Amino acid sequence: MRLLLALFASMTLSACSVERPPGGVVGDPVRGKIALTQYACQSCHLIPGVPGSKVYVGRPLSEMGQRKVLAGSVPNDQAGLVRWIRDPQAIDPHTAMPNMGVSERDALDMSAYLLSH
Ligand code: HEC
Repeated sequence: MRLLLALFASMTLSACSVERPPGGVVGDPVRGKIALTQYACQSCHLIPGVPGSKVYVGRPLSEMGQRKVLAGSVPNDQAGLVRWIRDPQAIDPHTAMPNMGVSERDALDMSAYLLSH
């Protein structure tokens, strides 16, 4: 029984740590993870797999693959994520999230990483 439980636990664990984004998502999640740390997104967000991020200025960016809506109004698909990351004020002029000058490619890779979780 204990063996079965352990087996089940390791199966579900490995299912959660899949590094490949779901179908239809483009960009490089490995590069995206690096870009997230380079732009220091973890200074405001808890980000899965990024050490040192235990801050809650913005919402945790965990389970982004499951969420339907971003920042209260944007459909949470890859296009919506890229749009938000590159220019949050264009969507919500009052948001506390700064425009960080993220390039199109970096935003695409970041979204690929976030959507794989
Ligand atoms: C100065 C703090 C700050 C920094 C730095 C920051 N954010 Fe944010 N972020 C916020 C806040 C505050 C919100 C909430 C906005 C809202 O809900 O209106 C937010 C919202 C978001 C959302 C929507 C989350 C949701 O659940 O709706 C995403 C995605 C996001 N940020 C990604 C990033 C990425 C990627 C970076 C790095 C390029 C970054 N943020 C840098 C403060 C920050």
